[in-house]
Amino acid sequence: MHPIANALPDSLCYLDGDYTPLRDAKVSVLDRGFIFGDGVYEVVPVYGGTPFCFDEHMARLGRSLAELCIDNPLTLDQWREITMKLAKPGAMSPEAAPQAVYYQVTRGVAMRDHAMPKGLMPTVFAMVNPMKPVPDAVRAAGVSCVTAADFRWQKAHIKATSLLGAVLARQISVDAGATETVMFRGEFLSEASSSNVWVVKDGRMSGSPKDELVLAGIRYGLLERLCADCSIPFELQRITRDEVFGADELLLSSATKEVLPVVTLDGHPIGNGQPGPIYQVLYAAYQDAKQRNR
Ligand code: PDD
Repeated sequence: MHPIANALPDSLCYLDGDYTPLRDAKVSVLDRGFIFGDGVYEVVPVYGGTPFCFDEHMARLGRSLAELCIDNPLTLDQWREITMKLAKPGAMSPEAAPQAVYYQVTRGVAMRDHAMPKGLMPTVFAMVNPMKPVPDAVRAAGVSCVTAADFRWQKAHIKATSLLGAVLARQISVDAGATETVMFRGEFLSEASSSNVWVVKDGRMSGSPKDELVLAGIRYGLLERLCADCSIPFELQRITRDEVFGADELLLSSATKEVLPVVTLDGHPIGNGQPGPIYQVLYAAYQDAKQRNR
């Protein structure tokens, strides 16, 4: 076995009703998640033992499942119970390291056939990992990103496990030594490989419309609320490539990045090439929201 596969952690995971060490959890080779990527997933940050924006994440899981015509196999309470069992007991103190719970539901196991078989038992999996916060020094300096054409499919709003487009997109920035790949559909910004992208211009914050071309991150709603609290005008609209490069500030958001300033794009400085004031305000407001866990 390859050393990476050999070193899988033995932390607890949930699979189809049972809790087992992660390295022992096994699914059928005929699982449609394995064969077709026929499944959906979520990633929920857990701070001090409490999942953050849990109901919103679970609502999106429900929407993703509905897009695939898979009935949600568990109730909100059952999802919460799994989350609380997986979040390490030691994580309950407010100072505990943050964790990320990953949830995946696939259509289930069947002989290979593209058509959706009816009546399958969905495969339900969840695991917990330490969340690697962005190091303070990186946050203080801001990050570099590169751009690429958004070559993913037309249903990017579904948080589907078939992530080859995202994997290929992310590798473009890995190969360039950059943090993310900011993608454009033609002239218009969509999002990054695993983050949403925000443009700040003249004190106003804008993001791509919540349509089928982007995954509407849970931070869409959160940042809209934080902007309202901080009197920062917030709008969703088509954003051109020129507007991205001409931004005063460019931000990424995701469950794990929270909100993160981009200071160079394809080697060009954004604004004055430093994390800007709107970022500072929103980052502070985000930390406050985590404390209050709203
Ligand atoms: N990615 N857009 C894409 C394509 C994403 O994959 C993600 C999240 C986001 C941000 O969504 P949210 O704010 O709900 O985290 C936007 C997760 C973290 C992942 O795939 O691991």
